[in-house]
Amino acid sequence: MPQTSPLLTVMIAAARKASRSLVRDFGEVENLQVSRKGPADFVSSADHKAEQTLFEELSRVRPGYGFLMEERGNVEGTDKTNRWIVDPLDGTLNFLHGLPHFAISIALEREGVLIAGVVYNVIRDELFWAEKGVGAFLNDKRIRVAARNDMKEAVFATGSPWVGRPGHEVFLREMERVMAVSAGVRRWGAASLDLCYVAAGRFDGFWERNLSPWDVAAGAVIVREAGGLVKELDGGDFLKTGAVVAGNEKLLPQLTKTVRGA
Ligand code: IPD
Ligand code: CA
Ligand code: CA
Repeated sequence: MPQTSPLLTVMIAAARKASRSLVRDFGEVENLQVSRKGPADFVSSADHKAEQTLFEELSRVRPGYGFLMEERGNVEGTDKTNRWIVDPLDGTLNFLHGLPHFAISIALEREGVLIAGVVYNVIRDELFWAEKGVGAFLNDKRIRVAARNDMKEAVFATGSPWVGRPGHEVFLREMERVMAVSAGVRRWGAASLDLCYVAAGRFDGFWERNLSPWDVAAGAVIVREAGGLVKELDGGDFLKTGAVVAGNEKLLPQLTKTVRGA
């Protein structure tokens, strides 16, 4: 592992600590699939446990920083300049179904700017991390976005709205348009990892609407430090609107245009 800054060191340590209960609980969840009620309550407690560990660890090493967490919401800190943005379990539906594709996502926002991100795929033991101005890494290797610039060769990731939420028609039109001009579209169910896969050059781009800040904050730093772009689909602030598009500088405008035209 390359030398990490004190900030990244504490973020990574917190992610690893929270990952231990998630790994144990994931092993258990696989056994619960056969029960009719299913493992939903169990998963929600796994989620809360991981969040509690992250909250305690990050509060201990950086007292006073604020939090924006999926379960707890906004927790004001005495230090108004620093805020952790945390999703203890991104890819809940995968976790619930015993699909090994989910992550812990931690970002640090300083004076309104995202400056560091850690996304940890606990089952594959893949740790994506980045710090503004330092670069992006997967475990101990530097990562870069893919260089492809032809939509026909590109594979894109996306996510669809949950049951009961609006936006399915728009999503299907967007999918149809992107599928018609690209090599393929994947829907893997963890937005933080979709972004990291863009950073690592596995996916060529990503778009999704209605995301929350904790889904994308860490992944956004990682994509940017890997030489890619992360924008709001219609040009606003994606942390506010949740409409995100990511890719290299050649493909991002083409993907944005294709999605917007839907
Ligand atoms: C979800 C995942 C998924 C995305 C959803 C998110 P969760 O987060 O990131 O990929 O499509 O919009 O809510 O609920 O698993 O933490
Ligand atoms: Ca979550
Ligand atoms: Ca999430």
